[in-house]
Amino acid sequence: MNQQHTSRISEGITRRSFLATASVLTLASMGGGFPKSALAASPIVLPPLPYPENALQPIISANTISFHYGKHHKGYVDNINKLTAGTEFADMPLEKIIAATVGKPDKAGLFNNAAQVWNHTFFWKSLKPNGGGKPPAALMQKIEDSFGGFDPFIKELSSAGATQFGSGWAWMVKDGNKVKVIKTPNAETPLTQGLKPLLTIDVWEHAYYLDYQNRRADYIAAVLDKLINWEFASENFSIG
Ligand SMILES: [Fe+2]
Repeated sequence: MNQQHTSRISEGITRRSFLATASVLTLASMGGGFPKSALAASPIVLPPLPYPENALQPIISANTISFHYGKHHKGYVDNINKLTAGTEFADMPLEKIIAATVGKPDKAGLFNNAAQVWNHTFFWKSLKPNGGGKPPAALMQKIEDSFGGFDPFIKELSSAGATQFGSGWAWMVKDGNKVKVIKTPNAETPLTQGLKPLLTIDVWEHAYYLDYQNRRADYIAAVLDKLINWEFASENFSIG
């Protein structure tokens, strides 16, 4: 972090936002398999999908991906670049924008668009063609230690996504040496809670409505069964 950024972030900083800043930047420095393009300073770049648009069929159609990635994700990227142009946020990486705007009502547009860019980039990497099945042994051990078994963990992750009221995200996160499940509303991200994301499932309606209409639970079950990228989660836990 350069001196200029440090002083900008420090202006009027509260202890809470300082802690959020510190946790986001610590997590960002850990990499987490995150594409460098998404960590680059402004203008924020829409990272390429890790696979072709039709690669997740039949679980998620190419049509859904074309809107979700090509319109929604791209829209958040376009918005954040418009919102930051000519401002103190113009050359900040996403994580710094997220940390500097979280919990500030007058910066809600910046936070929402920056966090949605980050969350979506992380979501695409949380999926892969021919995913699902069981996690690698080391991650499975962490899950069993944390939840008493794989099935209770899957049940909790599914439930987190299904019960998130309105738009949001279900997350598998690293909390200390344990695996934890949380859900976040709208654009909220575990980065601001000092938790390291391991993988996520987008449960905004735009993620599933063209394929599953109102059957969000079916979408979550299919993603966990056929698409979830356990190797990505292992890498993020640093045991892959
Ligand atoms: Fe989404």
